[in-house]
Amino acid sequence: MTDETTATVTPVVQPEGTDAQTTPINVDEIYTKDELVLHNRDGDLWIAIDGVVYDLTKFSGEHPGGTKILVGVAGTDASKKFRKYHGDNILQRYAQDYRIGTLKVEAQARKSKVGLFSRLKREKK
Ligand code: HEM
Repeated sequence: MTDETTATVTPVVQPEGTDAQTTPINVDEIYTKDELVLHNRDGDLWIAIDGVVYDLTKFSGEHPGGTKILVGVAGTDASKKFRKYHGDNILQRYAQDYRIGTLKVEAQARKSKVGLFSRLKREKK
């Protein structure tokens, strides 16, 4: 008698080299400036420094320079301000804890001279 019970086994696939339980955010994620700016407040605080995006939500309360100054640059590229107050060794110490990805390099919007020219032409008519 062939009484086969074929149980369908769904394999549990874990992404290689990651611990899904302790790594909720992919650190290799590429974020746009539009996405960065959404995290611009205390309680949801991201900043970019030299093309790397950091989630400082948990760190802001411990920041020796204070929370307020971080909230002031939240959601932006704070490279210049960061360099004003810190040396590179700070990032070596903290980067791996707070780094969540990289900032997408976007083309600079060019000022359109054509737009201005056509507007002048239109005004003459
Ligand atoms: C990943 C981001 C950041 C980390 C890990 C970080 C970490 C630190 C640490 C460890 C200190 C203590 C002083 C030191 O050891 O040099 C400090 C001080 C300070 N930080 Fe930050 N910081 C970050 C981002 C920023 C940003 C974006 C600003 C400014 C917009 C800022 C402003 C300051 C100021 C004003 C001080 C006090 C400096 C002083 O007392 O002389 N920090 N920060």
